[in-house]
Amino acid sequence: MDTITLGLIRLLGALPLAAISATTVNPFMWYVTRAAASSSYITLTLLVILGLARSMTRLNGGRVAWWLDETHQFLALLTAGLIGLHLISLLLDALIPFSVTNLLIPVAEPYRPFAVGVGVVTMYGMAAVLVSSWLRRRLGHAKWRLIHYLSFAVFAGVTLHGVLAGSDSSQPWMIFVYVASAISVGLLTFIRIFSAPDSPPTRAGYSRR
Ligand code: HEM
Repeated sequence: MDTITLGLIRLLGALPLAAISATTVNPFMWYVTRAAASSSYITLTLLVILGLARSMTRLNGGRVAWWLDETHQFLALLTAGLIGLHLISLLLDALIPFSVTNLLIPVAEPYRPFAVGVGVVTMYGMAAVLVSSWLRRRLGHAKWRLIHYLSFAVFAGVTLHGVLAGSDSSQPWMIFVYVASAISVGLLTFIRIFSAPDSPPTRAGYSRR
């Protein structure tokens, strides 16, 4: 058999294979996972920044503006929704076989086990912060605040998870997002820690409620 015929046979044999991989290994869900993840990281950063701003306003005896409260709550819901999308798209992604168990238990992860394990743990921390905020009136201020302190560990954990697991970690725009977020949250936390101790909220501390 001459080389041209051999080449043609190889090409024809390869065509269906290429067509199959093009249809089964569609990267669409992977793009959704990454887009949802990076957006949720940005909304999480804004959420923590507004939370710190809210806390510092009260600390200085000021009234918390209604829009600050509303935006803080809206960002919490948006972040939860984007994380939901991040996880659903992982389940639907044919490239990496994630199961519901992989999303709930941080062992035997099919991809970057340590980094993804950190993501699973932070998801529980975030759920605790969100649920305790909805149950705030029932829990009381002291218990709510104790649980709310978890937000700092969650932010640090998510940053570690994103840097170690993310495909975009080496992209200049994502490096900028991580560095800018870490610096702003770190700086505001530093200022908040070295400000006067917090006092229990009074009705007068809120501009609307
Ligand atoms: C069950 C919990 C979680 C699992 C299994 C998980 C899984 C993953 C995986 C597999 C990646 C790599 C995707 C890629 O190729 O870029 C990733 C990236 C990422 N995840 Fe998660 N994750 C979880 C929770 C979270 C949470 C709670 C957040 C909070 C914001 C988050 C934020 C991110 C970020 C920022 C990236 C980097 C995205 C990028 O580089 O484009 N993840 N996660």
